[in-house]
Amino acid sequence: MDQPIIRISGLHKRFGDNHVLRGIDFDVQAGDRVAILGSSGSGKSTLLRCLNFMETPSEGQIALKGKTIGRPTDRGMRYTQNELAAVRQRVGMVFQQFNLFPHMTALQNVMEGLTTVLGIEARTARDRAMAELGKVGLESKADAYPAQLSGGQQQRVAIARALAMDPEVLLFDEPTSSLDPELVGEVLNVIKDLAQDGRTMLLVTHELGFAYHYANKVLFLADGQLYETGTPDEVLKHPKKERTQRFLEKFTAFSF
Ligand SMILES: Nc1ncnc2c1ncn2[C@@H]1O[C@H](COP(=O)(O)OP(=O)(O)O)[C@@H](O)[C@H]1O
Ligand SMILES: [Mg+2]
Repeated sequence: MDQPIIRISGLHKRFGDNHVLRGIDFDVQAGDRVAILGSSGSGKSTLLRCLNFMETPSEGQIALKGKTIGRPTDRGMRYTQNELAAVRQRVGMVFQQFNLFPHMTALQNVMEGLTTVLGIEARTARDRAMAELGKVGLESKADAYPAQLSGGQQQRVAIARALAMDPEVLLFDEPTSSLDPELVGEVLNVIKDLAQDGRTMLLVTHELGFAYHYANKVLFLADGQLYETGTPDEVLKHPKKERTQRFLEKFTAFSF
């Protein structure tokens, strides 16, 4: 098998006494679409945030394309800010709450990372940002401010912003959870297009139907561990373990 894009080894995360992640080992291969499920508070966001180092792991290692991030010392891994900034470009994140800058237009939001982080000249950045807005169907909204956009449109801008950095992996943290139901589809369609383009992505979601059809791997997180993992059929349709079954039973009102 090819070298994984991401290798997670022995990952632990503690917040004080709260031992949230308790030994996660997992490989993400190029083109994988990994759906992450789990109850509220089970550590799904923490896991994603460790993968792009918005949180630093308490123990364990993360390697991107075979290269471990940070360097080991006798008091754990040490990271430099430059190194982590580079990781965040390679591993993009889309948040539940969009996190757009309210005082910037859609276009300016997408351009921001290109000019400030990558140092790309404004006119080139503008062209690239327009192209990214086009990919999410929002060229016509380039000059709108976030407050003038629907939640679904804001989230599509946020996806365009993440794509503009040309990441190797995209992380989605409940990207449709704060949307009105009628706006969920337009965002899932954009994610579906990315999946079909072969984008490597990890997606925390409660949209089980979407996970079933578009993920190739499903992780169920419980007790800080990957409690059950497998294909969508294995985990979502034929879960072997009791807690996975109980979790999924809560969703039986929704069919695939
Ligand atoms: N920055 C933080 N500081 C302290 N505790 C945190 C922080 N982030 C998350 N936690 C705690 O970690 C646990 C897992 O949270 P989270 O990863 O957000 O779960 P999920 O996304 O599955 O709902 C919770 O108990 C939460 O309170
Ligand atoms: Mg969360």
